[in-house]
Amino acid sequence: MSNLSQSEQKVLVAKTAIDTLYKKGLLFSGMKIGLGTGSTAMPAVKRFAELIDEGKLKDVKAVATSFQTTLACEELKIPVFSLSSSEINGKLDLAIDGADEISADNHLIKGGGAAHLKEKLVEYNAEKLVIIADESKVVEDLGTVFPLPVEVIPEARLSVIHELEL
Ligand code: A5P
Repeated sequence: MSNLSQSEQKVLVAKTAIDTLYKKGLLFSGMKIGLGTGSTAMPAVKRFAELIDEGKLKDVKAVATSFQTTLACEELKIPVFSLSSSEINGKLDLAIDGADEISADNHLIKGGGAAHLKEKLVEYNAEKLVIIADESKVVEDLGTVFPLPVEVIPEARLSVIHELEL
């Protein structure tokens, strides 16, 4: 894939991931899906919407990990709900998202797109989480290539500063 630009690679891996998940039966009518944030998740969301348009997926319900992805769902006519709505009831069948770095033993860092808390909520409450990534995301040691995203909610600001200063 190295003759493709990184953005072309992201689109390719996103479409391939969605088509593969569909073929394997992991995307199915009636499912509740978590949709992630970022330049890899977005083409995946678009391909997911195409499967709805093509009539391959019916009656799906989505929860987005960010306002940006909520807007995309609305534009693409993917029914989107809050995780705590009665339609979703706090549980998802599957979530898809990107990552910032992935190590050889499949640990990863996320959050560079600033979805942070919401992506943790959505993805911890999904029965399965599928991470979609191009080859640039694979690193030998986590935290060495992409700047480490740290979320600081106002109440925790001093605690986080103390922790980071250690
Ligand atoms: C969102 O907060 C992030 O976890 C993204 O999934 C991650 O930063 C990957 O983003 P890109 O797909 O844009 O590289």
